[in-house]
Amino acid sequence: CIDITHLRKETGCITMDQGFGNTGSCFSSITFVDGGKGILRYRGYPIEEIAEKATFVETAYLILNGELPNSDQLRVFTAALREHAFLHENLKHQFAGLPTDAPPMAILSSMLNVVACFHPEVLQVHTSGPGFDRTAALLLSKVRTIAAWAYRTANGKPFNHPNPNLSYCANFLHMMFSEPYQEYIPLPVVEKALNLFLVLHADHEQNCSTSTVRVVGSSRANLFSSVSAGVCALWGPLHGGANMAVIEMLEEIRSSGRPITDYINMAKAKNNSFRLMGFGHRVYKNFDPRSLILKKQVDDVLKALNMEDPLLDIARELEVKTLQDDYFKERNLYPNVDFYSGILLRAVGIPLNMYPVMFAIGRMPGWIANWRELHDHKQRISRPRQIYTGETTRSFVPVEQR
Ligand code: ACO
Repeated sequence: CIDITHLRKETGCITMDQGFGNTGSCFSSITFVDGGKGILRYRGYPIEEIAEKATFVETAYLILNGELPNSDQLRVFTAALREHAFLHENLKHQFAGLPTDAPPMAILSSMLNVVACFHPEVLQVHTSGPGFDRTAALLLSKVRTIAAWAYRTANGKPFNHPNPNLSYCANFLHMMFSEPYQEYIPLPVVEKALNLFLVLHADHEQNCSTSTVRVVGSSRANLFSSVSAGVCALWGPLHGGANMAVIEMLEEIRSSGRPITDYINMAKAKNNSFRLMGFGHRVYKNFDPRSLILKKQVDDVLKALNMEDPLLDIARELEVKTLQDDYFKERNLYPNVDFYSGILLRAVGIPLNMYPVMFAIGRMPGWIANWRELHDHKQRISRPRQIYTGETTRSFVPVEQR
């Protein structure tokens, strides 16, 4: 790694690295990834251990603050999340004005900026002390309510207010699925599965959406605007939208009745843009540790719920067949986090178009921590260069002579 940040002036020499595959954009102490060995650690803790033992709230605290919370810290943090769960009543009008088929990611991204308008203090840049703690808790808590209300709006259902007696995950499920005369009480296995999903998505160093949050934040934009941009970056099918695209692809394979090898061959062919969704990763070149955890969890959850999912059989067959295929082996294309996560979300009853939103809720601690870190490190404004390939100097031609 050659650090040229200190030069702080144009060198006349531009490093061309499209997609930033070999470009380090920051120093960070939040998340460590070794793609060759399939290692992921949050603040030094292996993902396998965090996934097994930590709640999402503990994980969020760890990612934000660098240490796991002691019981007092956890109590204060949990109380702050509880306090900020409600949305301002006037926000209901914003939801009411949306078409029922509005994509939940569009709603989430815009509502994050709208919510900030109701709490102007969060538009200030605080990166430490009570100001930061409050803003972070407000965002982590309200994102869950916005997501649930986006779903309720789309389905013409009345909004459910948060219930302060419920855990972070149970409260979200209640706001999604409780009906006027029927309170939704999740089975422990469902709550646990959602918790695991969120924990596994909590941070992943300089991916597309986190880099976006940093780029936007580097202009000293406030936290809410920065993460709103992160939601937009996440939406794309090559990133967080892949969890939804995987299920659509598996459904298509199932309903077509065609052999799986047809789809594998289509993904290998270079005369079309089809890719096997949920396969490949910029950094993991061996396996994605989150995918291994999710694969096991999907089995456990389906078994505990006494459910069968034909899409899981197709997914397993796809994985086995690609493992034996030279094209996928040569390019190190293995299932990524999105490959099995959709099947897990299906099992716990989350509607398909909400999958990327679930990813966004999970990624929120990572975005907030990266936004804070860039300010603490006084990161320079992000401003990459380009190689110009357009016309050389030309003279203006009046319209009647063109
Ligand atoms: N199916 C078929 N071929 C693939 C796939 C795939 N899913 N992914 C990559 N390839 C091929 C490419 O065509 C390319 O082949 P070539 O060398 O013959 O040209 C080679 O593998 C390298 O691919 P790149 O696109 O250069 O890899 P990059 O690191 O830029 O992209 C990405 C990574 C976006 C994840 C890619 O693998 C992909 O599109 N996967 C499918 C979408 C997906 O699952 N996204 C979620 C990623 S995880 C996350 O964001 C949370």
